[in-house]
Amino acid sequence: MKDQYILVANWKMNKTIEECGSFVDKFMNLILHKPKSKVIFCPPFSALLYMDGLLKDTSFDLGAQNVYWEKEGAFTGEVSAEMLKSTGATYVIVGHSERRQLFGDTDESVNKRLKAALSNGLTPIMCIGETIKERKNENTLDVIGRQLKNGLDGISNLDIEKIIFAYEPVWAIGTGERAEPNMIDEVHNDIRKVLNGLGVDGSDEIAILYGGSVNQNNIKELLELNEVNGFLIGGASLDADEYASIIHQSEQI
Ligand code: PGA
Repeated sequence: MKDQYILVANWKMNKTIEECGSFVDKFMNLILHKPKSKVIFCPPFSALLYMDGLLKDTSFDLGAQNVYWEKEGAFTGEVSAEMLKSTGATYVIVGHSERRQLFGDTDESVNKRLKAALSNGLTPIMCIGETIKERKNENTLDVIGRQLKNGLDGISNLDIEKIIFAYEPVWAIGTGERAEPNMIDEVHNDIRKVLNGLGVDGSDEIAILYGGSVNQNNIKELLELNEVNGFLIGGASLDADEYASIIHQSEQI
């Protein structure tokens, strides 16, 4: 049981400005009190500033879905940490498996993105997770260990403690196939062990989210897991009714 969950809506490449507006209108009518959970919206870059305006006087936070590590310059199509901050975003997802699989993100580039976010005062949400092949070959823990050690290379323990971690098994993302509760607890435990091994103080206090096909029908069981501090939610966060239901359920635990 937790005092507070962290619920991150990863909207991926979904929602125009108009669609963001109608979502927030509807959502605000469904969530009438300040939720116990920390609720973070990560819309596409194109809607960050607009969403910041809509969320300004609410308890909801704003995050981006990626960040480039250079400060400025000839990097067509990229967005820096400073630029993200200027939209009002305070969080940023780093190393999502779709970035790793479709856009060539590696542990090394994840490391650079994390450093850029941290040095600009953005809180990174660092995603890690194994593919189905890696799980079948019983390599899950090695993969998670490698992603953490390489991704966090050269980052001070003080900064590592600021990061929110998200365990997202690649095979569970957007597939409707959620990881079993015991698998999730096992990997979350292991993440804490790796962090302990890196000498991170109080790694029991570090927030570790689960992501992958979480929805309003399966969240209840996951809320009972000891090792889970919250959720990174894709598809189910696109619908105001469903996301509100997830938030309401997280209040009841
Ligand atoms: P999903 O996505 O909830 O649609 O599986 C999760 C994520 O990609 O963060």
